[in-house]
Amino acid sequence: MPSSLVIAVVALVVYCVVNTYVSFRQNLDRAKRSGIPYVTVPVYYLNRLWLLTHTLWLPLLAKLPCSWTRWVDFCIPDFTHRCSIEVFRRVGADTFLVVSPGGIMMHTADPAVISQITTRRNDFPKPTDIYRSLDIYGKNVVSTEGAMWRQHRKATSPPFTEKNNHLVWAESIDQASAMLASWLGPAGKGDKTVDRVMDDTMRLSLYVISRAGFGRKLEWPSTDAKADVDSDYIDHSKIKNQGIDRDAGHSMSYTYAIHCLLDNILLQFLLPRWLMDNLPSKTVRKANEAYLEWGNYMKEAVASKKESLEAGAEDQDQLDLLGQLVKGQVASKKSKDVTLTDPEILGNMFVLILAGHETAANSIHFSMVYLALYPQSQRALQKDLDRIFQGRPPSDWDYDRDLPALFGGMVGAVLAEELRLVPPVIGIPKSTWGVPDQQIMIEGKSCTVPSGTYISLCSSDVQRNPRYWPTGKPTLPGGKPVHPVSNVDNDLEEFRPERWLLDDEGEVQISAAGMNKEMPTETVTSDGLAINEAADTSDRMYRPPKGAYVPFSDGYRACLGRRFAQVEVLATLAVILQNYSVELAVDQWATDEQVIAMDEDGRVEVWQKAAEHARDLMLNGLSVIISLQMRRGHVSMRFVPRGQEKFPDDGDEKWKKKHPDLCRGMEPTPNWRFWG
Ligand code: HEM
Ligand SMILES: *[C@@H]1O[C@H](CO)[C@@H](O)[C@H](O)[C@H]1NC(C)=O
Repeated sequence: MPSSLVIAVVALVVYCVVNTYVSFRQNLDRAKRSGIPYVTVPVYYLNRLWLLTHTLWLPLLAKLPCSWTRWVDFCIPDFTHRCSIEVFRRVGADTFLVVSPGGIMMHTADPAVISQITTRRNDFPKPTDIYRSLDIYGKNVVSTEGAMWRQHRKATSPPFTEKNNHLVWAESIDQASAMLASWLGPAGKGDKTVDRVMDDTMRLSLYVISRAGFGRKLEWPSTDAKADVDSDYIDHSKIKNQGIDRDAGHSMSYTYAIHCLLDNILLQFLLPRWLMDNLPSKTVRKANEAYLEWGNYMKEAVASKKESLEAGAEDQDQLDLLGQLVKGQVASKKSKDVTLTDPEILGNMFVLILAGHETAANSIHFSMVYLALYPQSQRALQKDLDRIFQGRPPSDWDYDRDLPALFGGMVGAVLAEELRLVPPVIGIPKSTWGVPDQQIMIEGKSCTVPSGTYISLCSSDVQRNPRYWPTGKPTLPGGKPVHPVSNVDNDLEEFRPERWLLDDEGEVQISAAGMNKEMPTETVTSDGLAINEAADTSDRMYRPPKGAYVPFSDGYRACLGRRFAQVEVLATLAVILQNYSVELAVDQWATDEQVIAMDEDGRVEVWQKAAEHARDLMLNGLSVIISLQMRRGHVSMRFVPRGQEKFPDDGDEKWKKKHPDLCRGMEPTPNWRFWG
């Protein structure tokens, strides 16, 4: 019988090869007819096997001659962000197709193309298949398309009101004050090194959305968070053994449940529920328990909101997001409108947490890293805070008066610039899945996007595309280009918030009326949906061409929480930086005593080492699971009273003057094997 087995195997292999080849030829023909530039590759980037195993292949592929492996550049997850705009320059176009046997992808860093796609909602739907894992509690506004999405969007938009933003403002100030206090050393002298800035900003934004989303106030943990959180967990299996009815109470505190749910988010997405119920692993059991418990808390919250709304016991003006969603449900009982089911309310609450907590946290974290790397911009930001607040304590800060000033000044510019360089969604997914071929204008020419194409709007590339942004000379921080191959002859890879300020002085004159014009102007379309046409930045700032700046996406499916996020980030940065400066911690290279004993030259040298480390992490240490985040190492920081900074603001220039020899002839790092 071995011979028939061999024949079967050979037949299977031949079948696969022929099949792959035929699909490839078909895709190639469609790409040729499209009129859009294309590159060909042997693997489909969305292929699960490739996504899971590519890191194993890369070292082997790196041993092959360069000319055989050029395709690899186009198949590595997040390659458009890693290579930056250079990848488009290399293909010679701002929009190109990647053709493989498994399918066609389109990448674009062309503002006009991005604009057409975001405005033609029905022609370029979201590839909803890839969002399915978000449905763990129920369908929601992120994971749906078409009529179902319209219903979710209509139900989830009303809660995002100015009233709710006041709540976000107050809660952000409160939590940021607690976070800052936890970072300051004894007596606030700034001699404490903080390694967990990212974790803490994640905690902050989670707490802000808990309060402004579900009306649940969470207190910043006093000492060691993990310890007090874990004591709240009662092992489910033990309860079962002792015959205690779990429904009688909760096995986890709310805080622990939500942390545990989010910490294990990949397990929640990847493992089917029945498997999680039965796997004999403590991590999986806890993760599953957290899933159930957070759901239980939410169900209770929905039930009690419903009760008090029906009893007329809620202040209609003070409702949080959950209150608003449930209000929609209660109201529609009377008016027969279609509204969300209970699982759909849960589904939406979950994605609001997911969409809203990591993104805003990243913005605060990366802003702080950049401000530590660019002390002169930090000083300008602090001067602006002095102008706005005149030393007033946060208890006297006022949303209506102070937020517009923050938004139109250096703090707003820092957020705008941070989101330009590291937008949390670096490839906004669109598609032509389930729709026919689509005509589109590319560089003045009518082209065809083939049906079934996965489209990535490359926000981080279009946002540093020198064809659409004013450029300056590179300042070469640390004597090197920020990116080894991209935009090496201009400053678009560099953090320069000042580029947003129309006034060269960095002094911005703002009137309190500044933001009224800025408040989202909603255009309600014929199908009853609102699109927010206000710009992402203050009208006092540089306005990039339409489609060239899309950190919050654009059009119908733009971010619902844009204002929510802006309020949270601006308030938090203001609290931290009003009286304190953020500096890079240099513990790895020198002790406090050594630093104190150093002259200015010595301090500049040691700061440069810390800066080199931070710059390397910003270049090579970011990757995406939910959003673009620092996943390799961390940047340690210190928070010192203003005026007591240890390192000179212009250390970088001083260092470059002293080491002109090290500032020339830059070698691409070995990591760039596939990009060189
Ligand atoms: C700096 C912070 C944020 C950034 C940069 C950001 C960015 C984005 C982007 C790019 C999208 C489109 C995603 C896609 O098409 O797949 C999006 C969608 C969304 N965002 Fe945000 N976001 C932020 C914060 C928030 C916050 C705080 C919330 C809620 C509290 C939120 C809620 C949503 C929702 C519900 C959607 C889906 C809208 C729809 O598809 O109709 N976001 N956001
Ligand atoms: C900063 O200092 C001023 C003056 O001492 C004080 O009123 C204010 O509350 C402080 N700000 C913060 C955010 O703690």
